[in-house]
Amino acid sequence: MVTTSDLLDALWRDYVASTPQAARIHHLLSARGERIANDHVALRTYGVAGLGIAELARPFEALGWEPKAPYRFEDKHLVARYWQHPTPGLPKVFISELVLAELSAAAQQVIAGLVEQLPAGFGARADLPWAGRPWRVTHAQYTQLLAESEYAAWVAAFGFRVNHFTVDVNALSTFPDLATLDAFLVEQGFTLNDAGGTIKGTRADCLEQSSTRADSVEVAFTDRTCSIPSCYYEFAKRYPLPSGELFHGFVPASADKIFESTDVKPR
Ligand code: NI
Repeated sequence: MVTTSDLLDALWRDYVASTPQAARIHHLLSARGERIANDHVALRTYGVAGLGIAELARPFEALGWEPKAPYRFEDKHLVARYWQHPTPGLPKVFISELVLAELSAAAQQVIAGLVEQLPAGFGARADLPWAGRPWRVTHAQYTQLLAESEYAAWVAAFGFRVNHFTVDVNALSTFPDLATLDAFLVEQGFTLNDAGGTIKGTRADCLEQSSTRADSVEVAFTDRTCSIPSCYYEFAKRYPLPSGELFHGFVPASADKIFESTDVKPR
């Protein structure tokens, strides 16, 4: 019987393998005596029948995560939704998918060529959220997608895996706010994503977020190996709603900028 911690451990192991900075930051915070809780984990996919948000969510729903608000990111051609578990302390799950109909015919053709390689029933795998890259993709195909959508290229290169874990800053005891944590990370030599400012969102939004710039890792394409941005680590500080209840949703304008943490060229 798979438990929530089995699932989260599998996701974390797969994530740190391609995101060494996350393991280093985790270690640095632990060394200060912090016990790290996650606010959310985020996953990406293509909006293809049998391989979309619903399929990626299934292993989480089977363990009790419940669907919450949907979101739309017009500029990035994405739809998304998040799931929350009734057990306090378990991370939310944020899943987005690329709306293929909004891409060029050429990009749609490249993605169709990747998806065609999958065996029947692939989307039903219980380990879909960390199944890895299940298709052959050339560097030229990656570059072609990159010209149109960073997100399309990222999914082509990395397949199914966590895009980022997010530290719950409210649960930290030695950092009073997000700015203090960010200053500590910069001092330790990490590079933060400054698209739209280092801290996205405000206390009035009830959510402040920052993130590192993605690590670069060697990826073996069918024809050559090269170093490209992989995954990043995010930090979220939440504030109560006017009702007094802690806000658990997301702020689309902030998430839009956070997506750029995996961009090849900072904008
Ligand atoms: Ni996030």
